[in-house]
Amino acid sequence: PDISYSKFSSSHSRVSQAPKGNRPEFAFIGRSNVGKSSLINMLTQRKELAKTSGKPGKTQLINYFLINNSWNLTDLPGYGYAKRSKKTRAKWESRTENYFLHRGQMVCAFVLIDANVPPQTIDLEFINWLGENRVPFVIAFTKIDRKKSRDGGSVEDFKAKLLESWEELPPIFVTSSNTGVGREEIIQFFADTLEK
Ligand code: GTP
Ligand code: MG
Repeated sequence: PDISYSKFSSSHSRVSQAPKGNRPEFAFIGRSNVGKSSLINMLTQRKELAKTSGKPGKTQLINYFLINNSWNLTDLPGYGYAKRSKKTRAKWESRTENYFLHRGQMVCAFVLIDANVPPQTIDLEFINWLGENRVPFVIAFTKIDRKKSRDGGSVEDFKAKLLESWEELPPIFVTSSNTGVGREEIIQFFADTLEK
């Protein structure tokens, strides 16, 4: 079930311009700088398939990557970047909402959460929005190699926060794009989901 082939296919500002057809896709979303593009590179074992940056706000468009010639990974612009204007943020919001509400091929969203920071309201709000709109999603904690995440504190705190408004937790992955932790589990999840 591994990823043996990956290729950048296209970038779009709006979901209405995204590739047609019915290839299933998994979408990567989360705060700017959380590690979405890096995780796509880790999963595809390609160093520079998706462009990454130490500065938040790198990914600005909806980027499509074709996997094994049969399904897509989608890298989305991050949210919560404080330096953006109100207008830019509103544009992001409507485009992202449109993507999740109207992209029928999207089989599951990966919401990325930084394992090194305490639970953030913006993440919890986004997850609740997905839930209210019945968008299927899983959670992937990122940067688990970094020191602050080591006691497991923020992962457990985040789960506890979720359980305040959800009866059960979604599938949860713990990852590091630096060490490859979590890759096997996510690859298996892709395979299982695509088989259904
Ligand atoms: P935007 O496109 O701006 O929304 O950001 P993004 O979520 O795509 O983040 P990106 O993958 O560009 O990574 C942001 C920064 O975090 C880069 O400096 C990465 O090297 C770093 N980073 C990503 N994943 C990891 C990880 O697993 N461990 C560590 N230590 N750093 C990581
Ligand atoms: Mg990015």
